[in-house]
Amino acid sequence: MKKKWWKEAVGYQIYPRSFKDSNNDGIGDLNGIREKLPYLKKLGIDFIWLNPVYQSPNVDNGYDISDYQAIMADFGTMADFDLLLAEAHKLGIKLIMDLVVNHSSDQHEWFKESKASKDNPYRDYYIWKDGIQGEPPSDWQAIFGGSVWEYDEKTEQYYFHAFAKEQPDFNWENEQLKERLFSMIRWWLDKGIDGFRVDAISHIRKDAHHLPALLENVPGRYQNIPGIEHYLEELKQVFEEYDIMTVGEASGVKAVEAEQWAGDDGYFNMIFEFEHIGLWKQEQEKNFDIKAFKKALSNWQYALDGKGWNALYMENHDVPRSVSVFGNDSEEYREISAKALAMMYFFLQGTPFIYQGQELGMTNMPFESIEEINTLDSKQLYRELQDAGKSEETALATVNAITRDNSRTPMQWSNDQYAGFSNTEPWLRMNPNKQTINVEAALADSDSVFYFYQKLIRLRKQHSALVYGSFEEILPEHEQLYVYTRRNEEAVFLVLVNLSEQPASYQIPKHMKQLSEKAQLVLSNYQAAQDLPLTDTLAPFEARTYQIDMGN
Ligand code: NOJ
Repeated sequence: MKKKWWKEAVGYQIYPRSFKDSNNDGIGDLNGIREKLPYLKKLGIDFIWLNPVYQSPNVDNGYDISDYQAIMADFGTMADFDLLLAEAHKLGIKLIMDLVVNHSSDQHEWFKESKASKDNPYRDYYIWKDGIQGEPPSDWQAIFGGSVWEYDEKTEQYYFHAFAKEQPDFNWENEQLKERLFSMIRWWLDKGIDGFRVDAISHIRKDAHHLPALLENVPGRYQNIPGIEHYLEELKQVFEEYDIMTVGEASGVKAVEAEQWAGDDGYFNMIFEFEHIGLWKQEQEKNFDIKAFKKALSNWQYALDGKGWNALYMENHDVPRSVSVFGNDSEEYREISAKALAMMYFFLQGTPFIYQGQELGMTNMPFESIEEINTLDSKQLYRELQDAGKSEETALATVNAITRDNSRTPMQWSNDQYAGFSNTEPWLRMNPNKQTINVEAALADSDSVFYFYQKLIRLRKQHSALVYGSFEEILPEHEQLYVYTRRNEEAVFLVLVNLSEQPASYQIPKHMKQLSEKAQLVLSNYQAAQDLPLTDTLAPFEARTYQIDMGN
């Protein structure tokens, strides 16, 4: 398997609005991130993925960009950015940016021009269609709710938006538009950034563009549509001019297509797939389907083993906290289950990403009213639930369970009034559990989730088998345990994780018995026996990693 720096690296995702506020306006910023680089160094990560920091009216917190080559005033200046990049590099930390090229803001100059008249030279940078007998061109629904079509009275046409109406989609069929986007990409790469996380990239082609008439609302009409490969190849050629890493956000891409997208010659070095995380919505009914979850992850492992590379993640700014969804955030199990989830995904084959606060076992937020919620999709959902006759209480409970704001509450640095995030009321309510869950407390406790992550990172760096080794799932039919090996010529690692709240028994399969005799426990989240019993019972959320050296 080809060695690459980004295969050996561990990433850390920063949601700048919520990471650290250096100028006490209640909003995190670039100087705040710079201040905390030593903390990240201590954790041991190799690169940062920064959520969008470009100029934006903030309808979707930076995912609606009005100027790609300017920094949002809330976050600082371009000089602050350059300083952050330089200091991160000095510490040996790379930096990748979010690249949002499926859509812009409706406040972007190009869109303002595009909207000005039908014959404006920028008209075709976006997707405009005539309505049909006074109705939108199709009845497709946008990802954030409502129609994908927004009517413009002045030019009497509709424009397309996959997300909010303030996020008009680009028309990737327009050559000039593409060239403008590509030169913007080169501009950032010439600055010396180390790559991109590429937002919503599976949406850049739309079926609608070729189909003239009113279409039924079939999901996925603007997701991973055939023909997208041409755009992605062009984008890849731009990326290949540089030694960078790329990770595509690829909703709707299935494991069977993994190689095309994230194979050695794929469009991206790796992608964020949605199949395992897509299962979280079931949590509302409290029936986390462990077998389905394992299957989704293992499918991606097998699909790319020896052929490409995975991006590994359990959290990001779009999903609730993993310990509240897949683990158990009660006092008894929070730390144990946070560690179990950490070990479970960290030693899979791929590049692990840690989302800010995940290394503390930060939990979901008990929002008390809809006024406390910021994200537009949750407000929309709340309205829809109320329109459907749900009580305030029920609507809020549903929103609370799934809102993206669960993971966007400010980072908990200390037990101060605003958790050391800021000296003033933050833009989003602080989780009251900052009292006990915070960086200061974590650093003072050698058994904390933070130090567990630090150990995972160190182990991964020490052993090539944990990076490049092949993957094999053991006991795939087990209903509670996720068990797998990573193997190369130097060592075999056996990872056993109980993903459930009940004790779970196992029996090591026959073909592994010989290995089990030489197995050494290298990490666990309980005080466990040092050897590997052939049959044993793991405690709730118990996780163990054993090492078997091939030399002896
Ligand atoms: C995916 C991003 O992760 C999400 O936060 C954003 O709202 C949409 N893409 C639209 O850009």
